[in-house]
Amino acid sequence: MTRTGFGIDIGGSGVKGAKVDLDTGEFIGDRLKIATPQPATPEAVAEVVAEIVEHFEWTGPVGITVPAIVKNQVALSAANIDPSWINTDVSELFSKHLDNEQIVVLNDADAAGLAEVRYGDERARTGAAILLTIGTGIGSAMLIDGTLFPNTELGHMNVGKKEAEQLASSAAKEREELSYKKWAKRVSKVFNEYERLLNPSVFIVGGGISRKADKWVPLLTVDTPVIPAQLRNRAGIVGAALAAEDNITP
Ligand code: BGC
Repeated sequence: MTRTGFGIDIGGSGVKGAKVDLDTGEFIGDRLKIATPQPATPEAVAEVVAEIVEHFEWTGPVGITVPAIVKNQVALSAANIDPSWINTDVSELFSKHLDNEQIVVLNDADAAGLAEVRYGDERARTGAAILLTIGTGIGSAMLIDGTLFPNTELGHMNVGKKEAEQLASSAAKEREELSYKKWAKRVSKVFNEYERLLNPSVFIVGGGISRKADKWVPLLTVDTPVIPAQLRNRAGIVGAALAAEDNITP
């Protein structure tokens, strides 16, 4: 019998949900995406989350990712979402909108890390791996032999005069109309700083731009191996579903 889970990934442009086959990490049926309401306040987003859960008529455990630090089910940051998320008790918020008994909320990059460990490249579960999701921001998941060290925010590390994500997110690439060559230089600068301080065994790159990894990964001047995440844009939803099933609340 298939073990089925359910995950929702809250992003800057869309809130996405799907049923997940927990044995394979594949979606069961289609994913539903609804545009993130603007302003993306906790209440407005929670309504969309409820709409997605109702659409799938899902009554089991629900995992939800947010692009923020989540400690003891309280959001503590809001770099690319509405500032009113800071100090929101997310467990209280979503329980108000959903009937599901088990709800687990975690950082989006942490969810991607958990998914990669379970279903992705085996280098994610051996040694000191750093997974980076590169999109509007840069999210990070640090993994030691497959165990997550939650809520690392390597995208906010200062590299030179700027934060890593200001310099090298894919939003920065678009905003400043950088070629892959120019942007890869910035990514190298950021990864070199991570290497200098953390010496990981591997960097795993996720987020939309990892789909085009062949265009920029070969241009990086980084000593540590850099590999694209295998779960691509499924990672957040799948990791959320896993966290809910295993009741992982970082
Ligand atoms: C946030 C992180 C998040 C990342 C990716 C960053 O700006 O601070 O919590 O994981 O964006 O969404």
